Amino acid sequence: MASVRTTGAFVAAVSISMVLFSYFLCNYRSKRKAPSPISKNKKPGNGLIHAVGNTPLIRINSLSEATCCEILGKCEFLNPGGSVKDRVAVKIIEEALESGQLVCGGVVTEGSAGSTAISLATVAPAYGCKCHVVIPDDVAIEKSQILEALGATVERVRPVSITHRDHYVNIARRRALEANELASKLRKTEKIDGKFLEQIDGCISDVEKKDSIFSSYCSGGFFADQFENLANFRAHYQGTGPEIWEQSGGSLDLFVAAAGTGGTVAGISSFLREKNPNIKCFLIDPPGSGLFNKVTRGVMYTREEAEGKRLKNPFDTITEGIGINRLTQNFKMAKLDGAYRGTDKEAVEMSRYLLKNDGLFLGSSSAMNCVGAVRVAQSLGPGHTIVTILCDSGTRHLSKFYDAQYLSEHGLTPTATGLEFLGI
Ligand SMILES: Cc1ncc(COP(=O)(O)O)c(C=O)c1O
Repeated sequence: MASVRTTGAFVAAVSISMVLFSYFLCNYRSKRKAPSPISKNKKPGNGLIHAVGNTPLIRINSLSEATCCEILGKCEFLNPGGSVKDRVAVKIIEEALESGQLVCGGVVTEGSAGSTAISLATVAPAYGCKCHVVIPDDVAIEKSQILEALGATVERVRPVSITHRDHYVNIARRRALEANELASKLRKTEKIDGKFLEQIDGCISDVEKKDSIFSSYCSGGFFADQFENLANFRAHYQGTGPEIWEQSGGSLDLFVAAAGTGGTVAGISSFLREKNPNIKCFLIDPPGSGLFNKVTRGVMYTREEAEGKRLKNPFDTITEGIGINRLTQNFKMAKLDGAYRGTDKEAVEMSRYLLKNDGLFLGSSSAMNCVGAVRVAQSLGPGHTIVTILCDSGTRHLSKFYDAQYLSEHGLTPTATGLEFLGI
């Protein structure tokens, strides 16, 4: 009798466990199968352009803890072309296509040795366009190699002053005009026997195409002109600014960044100020740049310092892409409350500090922006939320900013163990 009861209890226990097991299994399976509301809404994006922007905004833990402020960085290095300039390249091309100044199959030209050229070369094929870049011939050869690998054509020219007609920016502008002239010439031609022929005074002659840089670009050209083209400002006013506002829940107090063309600070500061006039915006300016003077004293430079007077920029700063001695249309749109100066040593030390403490491997302008964020925190005190831009990663800066020998030759070897270089 006892053994029957024991067997019954055993069977009951097994049955209950099996019921419970099947319940949990079904529950687990059904949970796994049912798509979450988030994954339901996540449709695949349309091509490469969908991957530009919407970058994460992250808390920079080490700096936040050291300053008792919330210091947030917008991870622009995660854009497909590796920098904040992808947004600008997309906006410049889209606006040019919409206005008809650029047509599919045409060439976008730019005079740039930096990130903008790489971004234009990256996104142009997604619009069915080509990219032609003019750079000074003293720029590291890897830069042309990257651009060529991306499918752009590259012209290396002698470095001269911006006021010279053969400055690389002026040549880039000219190349777009030449491409347009060629396109209109070709439009007048008739294709006979597979050859382009031109109608000149009733005579028919072969179009001399083979000597032209644009022999294959017969759909016209467009000069991107990142310094003066306000599509640059709009990329940030309509994209980066609103993203920062959303991601911070609108609860930021301060924004700080350095300027090259000025598009980033101008677009973001204008947008944030419109949303909340109490948000304060600041510039952090590297050595050799006149913008600090412009913001704090209203004058940019002495007559001798004007960029147009220089035959070639002397060594001013190790940082790349930021600092300028002329007032661009983009920078003029900025809404700034003040400016700070940052040094090369501070930027180098900051980059190593962030690498060690946060695992952030950042380029020189991002490091300078973080110097700016700490300067702002020190001036305005604890409890503020400060946003800055992490423009690109350290991978583009190996030959100077992350090269021990280069740094030692310029007296910039990092030595700090904490943030003592900023007085913390
Ligand atoms: C790496 C990098 N960071 C920052 C900047 C500055 O941004 P902006 O031109 O919008 O002032 C540039 C500009 O070329 C850049 O290349």
